Amino acid sequence: MMIIAYKGDIVFTPSPDHFETFEDGYVLVEDGKVIRVCDSLPPDSRNITIMNRSGHLIIPAFNDLHTHAPQYPLAGLGFDYELLPWLEKYTFKAESRYADIDMADHWYRRFITKLWENGTLRFSAFATLHNEATLRLMELCQESGLRPVIGKVNMDRNSPDYLIEDTDASLSGTEELIMKAKKITPDVGFIITPRFVPSTTPELMNGLGELVKRYHLPVQSHLDENRNEIKWVHELHPNIPTYTEVYEHYGLMPDGRTIMAHCVWLTDRERKILKEHDVWLTHCAESNLDLTSGIMPVRRNLDYGLRVSIASDVAGSHESAMNRHIVMAIEASKAKTFETGYAEDKPLRLPEAFYMATKVGGSFFGEVGSFESGYEFDALVIREDESPLDLSVEERLERFIYTGDDRDIKERYVGGKLIPRPFQK
Ligand code: GUN
Ligand code: FE
Repeated sequence: MMIIAYKGDIVFTPSPDHFETFEDGYVLVEDGKVIRVCDSLPPDSRNITIMNRSGHLIIPAFNDLHTHAPQYPLAGLGFDYELLPWLEKYTFKAESRYADIDMADHWYRRFITKLWENGTLRFSAFATLHNEATLRLMELCQESGLRPVIGKVNMDRNSPDYLIEDTDASLSGTEELIMKAKKITPDVGFIITPRFVPSTTPELMNGLGELVKRYHLPVQSHLDENRNEIKWVHELHPNIPTYTEVYEHYGLMPDGRTIMAHCVWLTDRERKILKEHDVWLTHCAESNLDLTSGIMPVRRNLDYGLRVSIASDVAGSHESAMNRHIVMAIEASKAKTFETGYAEDKPLRLPEAFYMATKVGGSFFGEVGSFESGYEFDALVIREDESPLDLSVEERLERFIYTGDDRDIKERYVGGKLIPRPFQK
């Protein structure tokens, strides 16, 4: 078998407490998967092809478990509003435009290209309620070589008349897409996507819960993002004690297959349930500040043993680059300590936040997000700006995370395959 050795300054985080670094080391890759990382080549290296990237950082690619593909053109608008008026005044209008397939095609290409530029190579995205545009997004992702899961948004109540569907059409449209996607987009998964509790009737949630079971599908939605939103959920479901339990009640929290975005205002009762179902929480610190939602007590959630990743939530936030979201998560965790004290909410450290944006998000897709043996070789090759200082490999990564951008990313690999800029043909 052919082995490829990627040579460079290698950094990854098998665990959240420290960076593993190999200066001028090798990642050995076979069949798209990491065999191991080492300081020097094995004695018999006849079967090894060396890809020399000396002087470059080689890191796991970023994984973003919560983003909204149709909201990309909206990024940076409406942040004097909180969540609910922002949805009414901006988001629903923007999403309604995706009834136009040519508009959808154009902007979905731009969205995917932006993620490619930023080195986000796997992600979980909301589309819109439109079937045709959602299938187009999946086809474009398939063509691009990126490996996301995508969900058609379900919403059948408390939505404007230009962005709402009836319950039966929502369910049959979803099932139709599940079948089509299986055939047409083998590398792009489908994820059941009720928008959030206020925009879905009990009948719709029930039906979606059945689809989850029948097709063994994952689920994504929003949870405990904003205090007015939470109050509304309690008004709509007075007999269910918590927001979390509404999803649980309707079969929308399959074990080890559920992503819940935000989780800013969790109670301990909810933490327990999320842990039982092995849910991925996505910490969207920038969105939570942009939309004045709050600051997740990320340390408390981690100490509780919850699985917390870092995500962008474009366009609840104004940018998609995951290195920026790592920075925002760290900064927000520092701001939290001013409120609650250091003992309770000790700030995130860089290796921890990097781990959350690579390995925790990646684990939704299998063995992804690290360079441990057996992991998919999903990687970025980075050439950061020069420095007059004598920086360690770890310090160079830190500087890239804080100050770098897509211009520093020279190559992107998914499952060992070099992914060129999409849609150039
Ligand atoms: N809750 C329901 N819909 C949305 C959305 O589009 N963005 C965010 N951030 N929260 C939501
Ligand atoms: Fe969101």
